[in-house]
Amino acid sequence: MPLSLRFVVPLALALAAIAYAVVPLVDRLTFQWFVRDLDARGALIAQTAQEPLSELVRDPRGAKQRVQRYFERIMQGERIFAIGLCDRTGHLAFASPTWPQTVRCPPPGDKEARSWVLQLKDGPLHVSANPVAGDSGPLGSLMIVHDMSFVERRSADTKKYVLWLFAGIAAVVALITMVIAEISWRGWVAGLKALMSGETLLRSPLGLAGTAPELRPIARDLQALVRDLEAERAGRDESQTTWGPEALRRILRQDLKGDEVLIVSNREPYVHVKRKDNVIEIQRPASGLVTALEPIVRACSGTWIAHGAGSADRETVDKNDHVMVPPERPAYRIRRVWLSPEEEQGYYYGFANEGLWPLCHIAHTRPVFRAPDWEYYQAVNRRFAEIVADEAHTEDPIILVQDYHFALLPRMVRERLPRATIITFWHIPWPNPEAFGILPWREEILDGLLGSSILGFHTQFHCNNFFDTVDRFLEARVDRETFSISYGGDTTEVRRYPISIEWPPAALQVQPPVAECRKRVRERFGLAPEVKLGVGVDRLDYTKGILERFSAIERLFELEPRWIGKFAFIQVAAPSRSSIDEYQNLDADVRALAARINERFGKGDYQPIILRIEHHDAAQVYELYRASEVCIVSSLHDGMNLVAKEFVAARDDEQGVLILSQFTGAARELAESLIVNPYDFEQSAAALHLALTMSPEEQRARMRSMRNLVQEFNVFRWAGRMLLDAARMRHRTRMLARTRAARRKADAAA
Ligand code: G6P
Repeated sequence: MPLSLRFVVPLALALAAIAYAVVPLVDRLTFQWFVRDLDARGALIAQTAQEPLSELVRDPRGAKQRVQRYFERIMQGERIFAIGLCDRTGHLAFASPTWPQTVRCPPPGDKEARSWVLQLKDGPLHVSANPVAGDSGPLGSLMIVHDMSFVERRSADTKKYVLWLFAGIAAVVALITMVIAEISWRGWVAGLKALMSGETLLRSPLGLAGTAPELRPIARDLQALVRDLEAERAGRDESQTTWGPEALRRILRQDLKGDEVLIVSNREPYVHVKRKDNVIEIQRPASGLVTALEPIVRACSGTWIAHGAGSADRETVDKNDHVMVPPERPAYRIRRVWLSPEEEQGYYYGFANEGLWPLCHIAHTRPVFRAPDWEYYQAVNRRFAEIVADEAHTEDPIILVQDYHFALLPRMVRERLPRATIITFWHIPWPNPEAFGILPWREEILDGLLGSSILGFHTQFHCNNFFDTVDRFLEARVDRETFSISYGGDTTEVRRYPISIEWPPAALQVQPPVAECRKRVRERFGLAPEVKLGVGVDRLDYTKGILERFSAIERLFELEPRWIGKFAFIQVAAPSRSSIDEYQNLDADVRALAARINERFGKGDYQPIILRIEHHDAAQVYELYRASEVCIVSSLHDGMNLVAKEFVAARDDEQGVLILSQFTGAARELAESLIVNPYDFEQSAAALHLALTMSPEEQRARMRSMRNLVQEFNVFRWAGRMLLDAARMRHRTRMLARTRAARRKADAAA
């Protein structure tokens, strides 16, 4: 082949590839990026406008003029074409004069933020509908219409640059073909074709072995580029993903490239206990944290580092203190950490559970802070940090730190593994700065947590409290727009990740039909078939509002005596932290109140409150959920509360009513439950009466909507979103490192 052809042919091939593959891809990506930008911008405007709007519409007189003036002020911002407020019935209540007739309000009752693009003859319009709420409930949707014609202009510019860039690369590649004449022509063309068709780009780095050696650097660069684009896309496509174990495994494989995952928590997922007859039994602890994390670590096959608290834990580990679990189908390993009784007393019972736990929960139990407990807390956190470093096989593992037992651990791990990605999740509420400020070691706790790369809370409210607390007590830069805190040269992203349960829950797979569960449970507790049943499932903890729940039941009997003999309530309470005085007192109070109510309203075999203070496994709990007409979650303060979500998941018959405390994180998501203030017995009693008389149709409508939500926002999504954020961070760090290395190389060459 003549020399000139050797240049022209590859160049032509490259240009064709650019025209048919790269340009449309760039086009699509640019458009999607802008849509995402506008979505975020719309949400931000709605968030900012929510309070002023609710003020402006409070008095209907003159509201129209006030709102229009306000809209005009907002519209002074670049590219906003029109703005309007649709009320809850789906009608346009207020709009700027520029409002296009073709834009419609979302259907009534639509509470989701959504957006769409309208193609008009003057160019595309981006419409975003963002739910807004006032003090007295939802106001409707704030509609923000952006003019997108600028996108076409910018995308044309981008296309031009990309075209020139790729054409340049193609020209260089083609030039090389001419210069290196001894290279086999056929092999070279095949390599170039594979490169341009994208085949090589999608292979692993090992796959480059098939590429001609002189093309490998280019292929490698392009491969990195494709990975960058993929990582970007993964973030964008998150909402389209069906979240399950496979989606998590895919993230680990593709976005995190099989990186090592370590989990640290105080409570272990499987406890080996020796029974009186010396037989070793496995128990699953009553812990929302464990319920949520176990399916995740099963999917990730990571290592879970936790306190070995079971009486037979030492007998069941290997020489490295490892044990493979779940016993029936080992999928990951636990590394058990041993604590002396003094350490357990000081770190776990003392500082964590008599100090931080009541400090973070507004349940009117006074926190106790003792200097020796603090010493143990530091020492145990240090020990866990050493074990994390010991278990890590790579320099930059992903470490998922769980809860208030390990507030100091992120910083301690960061000192040992500076390149690790540390994701800390705080499973309980974060209080306001005044409440947190009484902690004698508040700066140390904040400093410890800010060793994390990402710090997660269940609700935005808890994130905001954390921002306020850091603002108040540390010399740090708090950026509420990017949700990040810069402190001591490092940045921590503070995000909201509402935790959930696995879907479908494993415990549901072994359940008989609802009718069978109802029959079995009523027989077991000696209840007549027509007796309506309520259920409560908690750890025996003063934050759970068990006494308040019983008082509400007592009030129901006083107000509606017809329920005496016709309604019974089963309270399952797993004993918890029983060596702490407050918990012993609660145990006595709960028993006494149940006995008093039973004394007052019981008759013969009928006991209105059936109290079981003992451990129940998941199958037993799910059977109770399915047998009951109503489930009561009356926490005085709770980070999320997974019992509420479990009850919803258990009801595949779409029946049953959830009564839910407004002080749980779950209340922000499960809006179709009956939301109550547990301190208000009258209100809770009225909700109970309403639940017991609710029509099956209404139960179905409410339950269906809550089930859809829990199914979609399941625990795989919770973990997946954190892992995707971690992947994005790692990716950015690596890219920066690559750029710096290239710059150093270039400087050295110059
Ligand atoms: C809460 C905490 C968890 C804890 C669980 C059970 O859900 O957030 O970290 O594991 O209570 O308490 P326990 O002290 O028995 O582990």
